[in-house]
Amino acid sequence: MTSLAERAVEVLTTADGRAKTALSHAHAAAWRAARAKGGTFPVGQAMPPARPARPDRPELLPPREVPRRRPGSPQGRIALLHALAHIELNAVDLHWDIIARFAHVPMPPGFYDDWVKAADEESKHFNLLCDCLEAMGSHYGALPAHAFMWQAAEDTAEDLLGRLAVVPMVLEARGLDVTPGMITIFERAGEADAIAALKTIYAEEVGHVAYGVKWFNWLCGRDGLDPKDEFHALVRRYFRGPLKPPFNDEKRAESGLPPDFYWPLAEEVEAAPGTAGFR
Ligand SMILES: [Fe+2]
Ligand SMILES: [Fe+2]
Repeated sequence: MTSLAERAVEVLTTADGRAKTALSHAHAAAWRAARAKGGTFPVGQAMPPARPARPDRPELLPPREVPRRRPGSPQGRIALLHALAHIELNAVDLHWDIIARFAHVPMPPGFYDDWVKAADEESKHFNLLCDCLEAMGSHYGALPAHAFMWQAAEDTAEDLLGRLAVVPMVLEARGLDVTPGMITIFERAGEADAIAALKTIYAEEVGHVAYGVKWFNWLCGRDGLDPKDEFHALVRRYFRGPLKPPFNDEKRAESGLPPDFYWPLAEEVEAAPGTAGFR
């Protein structure tokens, strides 16, 4: 039977977004079916690519060169959904990458349950946003997108705790902060499909942050580390910029992320003005 790590690499090396997410759904369903029967299939070992395969379009540009969005216009809302679809496609790859890249670290089966589920949900998110774009006369690939989305994965390619700190506990937690404002934009425009897609994403992203917190704490406990101190050290090492308030304290709490984890990193905004912002 094909191992979970091999399946993860198969997703990572598939370029087309719809094909990648179809494969992601299929592998997630196979894992779930095996777990429902009380088993698993082997996690195995497989070498993930340094960067995941990507379609020819969208063109990937440095963030400063990606045209700014004005969400008051239909074109601006298309640009916003396009940027989100790009984030979701990267999220699909990030969750399969954590499975394959750290397959040599012994982890309980629940670790894989969580990231397989997260990858499955990101695949749904990407497709929901693509459906919205297509209904609005656009598509994923029609606009340029952010080139440095994979940076966090490369920076933490050899550090599972660092990966958990930066990806779910910083980047995905940031999604919880900004999504309510995006929902308001689409509510003002009366765009029901986009509102429904964003509400699904908002509800499910709480779980992804929670998986990050759960396994971060588990690894710290296993290794006798203080989770808060370790989180601060890893975010300072790998994220290299302050965290941007305002924070969604309520949803962060629902994910198990306490304020004393993230507020001290935001306070460095005052201490070091002009340092790199959120990537
Ligand atoms: Fe997502
Ligand atoms: Fe997510």
